[in-house]
Amino acid sequence: MKNREKTPSEVAFNREYTETVGEITSPNPRIECRGVQVHYGEKLAISGVSLDIGRNEVIALIGPSGCGKSTFLRCLNRMNDTIPACRVSGEITLDGRNIYDPTVDVVPLRAQVGMVFQKPNPFPKSIFENVAYGPRIHGLVASKVELEEVVESSLRRAGLWDEVKDYLHQPGTSLSGGQQQRLCIARTIAVNPEVILMDEPCSALDPIATAKIEQLIDELRSQFTIAIVTHSMQQAARVSQRTAYFHMGRLIEVGETARIFTNPHHQLTEDYITGRFG
Ligand SMILES: Nc1ncnc2c1ncn2[C@@H]1O[C@H](COP(=O)(O)OP(=O)(O)OP(=O)(O)O)[C@@H](O)[C@H]1O
Ligand SMILES: [Mg+2]
Repeated sequence: MKNREKTPSEVAFNREYTETVGEITSPNPRIECRGVQVHYGEKLAISGVSLDIGRNEVIALIGPSGCGKSTFLRCLNRMNDTIPACRVSGEITLDGRNIYDPTVDVVPLRAQVGMVFQKPNPFPKSIFENVAYGPRIHGLVASKVELEEVVESSLRRAGLWDEVKDYLHQPGTSLSGGQQQRLCIARTIAVNPEVILMDEPCSALDPIATAKIEQLIDELRSQFTIAIVTHSMQQAARVSQRTAYFHMGRLIEVGETARIFTNPHHQLTEDYITGRFG
């Protein structure tokens, strides 16, 4: 399944499967979603979403409040499993493996597909321990020295090391909001994820902290696949290569970000990006 080209019949099937406008497939997919449907109790929140997310790509998920962006994002690392009323159907694979297969252990899955939330949520522990926790519980390090190396390199990659290197044993919560968000990113990358999911990671941050996170996202793209939910179309345009527009639980349109913002093909996409909706 990995990195192979799709057969013409698969391409045709994928097109037929979805009413989405634009190219739902990726030449180099990491995540492949087909016919994803999510219910909360009786209520349908996501309906028939098919979408690939490619290697080293940042994909922005946009759309009006309540359209299902967070719900869709949470499908990708089975965070919806933690919501009792939530039922997910359809198929989602990561590197060709069905992540909803009963044999999949969600603990390593959530390290492979890490998540950064809207509100920075450091653990009530020191800066060092926030980053060290994951590698330790996942058994990724053999010694104290190795652990210290992982903590330092993760904080460096998150662009936070220079600001915190002399305060590693202060509580994570003592940092500013923007620093806390970079700490949460360091914590996510410390366990070597393949995919990073970000749900409005900058909405609680000022423009300077936002610019730092956006720059970081661009740097992280060389190593990771990133899906980011944002209400800022400017942010989507700055950080992503592809944009997916959701509306009332459906994936309406997906395509190259520059194209979506300059030449949307679906009326609903156009209404949203020109500010006539949402
Ligand atoms: N835990 C939940 N229980 C029941 N319904 C939920 C739950 N979470 C979300 N929903 C419903 O699912 C739909 C999609 O919600 P979701 O939070 O995914 O939207 P969103 O696009 O992320 O919105 P926002 O931009 O406001 O964050 C909404 O109708 C919402 O009310
Ligand atoms: Mg949301």
